[in-house]
Amino acid sequence: MARHLITSALPYINGIKHLGNMVGSMLPADVYARYLRQRGHEVLYICATDEHGTPAELAAKEAGVPVDAFCAEQHDAQKAIYDGFELAFDYFGRSSSAENRDITQHFARRLKENGFIEERAIRQVFSIADDRFLPDRYIVGTCPHCGYDKARGDQCENCTRVLDPTDLIEPRSAISGSSDLEVRETKHLFLLQSKLAGEVERWIDATSEEWPQLASSIARKWLTEGLHDRAITRDLDWGVPVPADTWPDLAAEGKVFYVWFDAPVEYIGATKEWADAAPDTGTEDRDWKSWWYDADDTVRYTEFMAKDNVPFHTVMFPATQLGTREPWKKVDYVKAFNWLNYYGGKFSTSQKRGIFTDAALELLPADYWRYFLMANAPESDDTSFSWEHFTATVNKDLADTLGNFVNRVLSFSRKRFGDAVPAGSAAGPAEARLGEEIARLLAEYEGHMEALQFRKAAAALRALWSAGNSYLEEKAPWLEIKTDEEGAALTLRTAMNLIHLYAVVSEPFIPASARAMRSAFALADDTAAWVSAEEAKALASVPAGTAFTVPPVLFAKITDEELAAYRERFGGEGEEPAA
Ligand code: 2FM
Ligand code: ZN
Repeated sequence: MARHLITSALPYINGIKHLGNMVGSMLPADVYARYLRQRGHEVLYICATDEHGTPAELAAKEAGVPVDAFCAEQHDAQKAIYDGFELAFDYFGRSSSAENRDITQHFARRLKENGFIEERAIRQVFSIADDRFLPDRYIVGTCPHCGYDKARGDQCENCTRVLDPTDLIEPRSAISGSSDLEVRETKHLFLLQSKLAGEVERWIDATSEEWPQLASSIARKWLTEGLHDRAITRDLDWGVPVPADTWPDLAAEGKVFYVWFDAPVEYIGATKEWADAAPDTGTEDRDWKSWWYDADDTVRYTEFMAKDNVPFHTVMFPATQLGTREPWKKVDYVKAFNWLNYYGGKFSTSQKRGIFTDAALELLPADYWRYFLMANAPESDDTSFSWEHFTATVNKDLADTLGNFVNRVLSFSRKRFGDAVPAGSAAGPAEARLGEEIARLLAEYEGHMEALQFRKAAAALRALWSAGNSYLEEKAPWLEIKTDEEGAALTLRTAMNLIHLYAVVSEPFIPASARAMRSAFALADDTAAWVSAEEAKALASVPAGTAFTVPPVLFAKITDEELAAYRERFGGEGEEPAA
């Protein structure tokens, strides 16, 4: 059994995430982690909030709360939502932790010792009224290209052109509004990526062969464009401070590391947070270093992220790790996602367009979202959310194919044979055919899960559910019982075994419904441990005589009225799909 280290891109702290963020990182990582755990592997699934950088500072300012309090609050708010989605992290940390500070500073010291960080003087805008240097996006003014008067120093939101703060007409401070600005010289730390380019390229050559094309092509594109040296410090009040023992001058000026320098290190930091948070009973072995430092060959590290994050994870972070000259574990497999759109346009946090994770959970149980999102994950291309598609999927796959099967079989059997699984006659040719079909589909499902092909895996899961429906239609126990009671009992026992199998294999996608299905049967061994294709073929894990209950309806159908109300509330109707 391998040891699987899994991380999903750290969600920014500034606000609740939308469904596009969810399907592009945390949800697929959770599905994969659950699957591997069921198969008996040792899994460590780590995530955290990404708390530094200007977006956090600005969002806190807007909320009128000190930035540390803002982050603490928002971390808890996000965590509560992820619990609602049943994301089974081993640890959900915070990039503002002491652990991350220490490891980030350690990385920086090692990089300096090895000649990969140097101080450089640059010219930067200083605000006299605010008595501080302003990061590019803290300077606003009129765009020289389109005349928009709230363009930021890094980019004009209106015409999307990339800007330099000195391009702005009538520049002013975004903090105080003061235009009393001047350009001053100041020192920053630079990561000398150009010196590491060859090594990073060799590492990518050796590692990326099995990555999905989306990840390897983005990594290659970045390499081809050249790895430039990059400023890794900022003038902000909030962030990992530059260590005073190594750079006393910069530390005295209050410089902190750039958010993209400390964020990936938090994968390691959060693992240490996990170890430090271990209960004092000494029964658990939380050896964080065994996952990250000089990890033996049995650790396989898989990262999940949306495509805009790929360059940082495949080039910049590995360069940082390599430059320490220490044996930090580097990623083995990069699972990257395209965009989930909303009616063909973009989900947008700033424009509040689309569906946010908090609102989603208020409307419907997590399993509805989990299944829909994974069955339509933007793996090979961008995909689009629409309420019509969502409703059709929930009603057909979840309510009709799975939920109805479960309730029909259990209710009918209880009505005719009582509260225990009936024995009936010995399995015949229909059961043998069904067993073969189930074993084949299960092997297919496993293959797609091993290959992290989630849409295909969801399709195979759906095919497993459908096979049960076909069997039931073929045997029609409600007719069979009129002439052959023992035969009808066999059909129902077989169908109940399918329900138990569905409970086990559906767990990664719909954990709550899987639990409800599993707990319908009073089995001594109530674990979700995987069922091999061979066992599945026998359809005999729930023996005759096992007591069962009929669970409440697993999935309620979404009505036409509800569909209309969702569309109305969230928008979407009449909007042009983007070209
Ligand atoms: O793009 C984002 O949402 C970033 N917060 C992802 C960070 S991933 C990691 F490197 F920390
Ligand atoms: Zn513009």
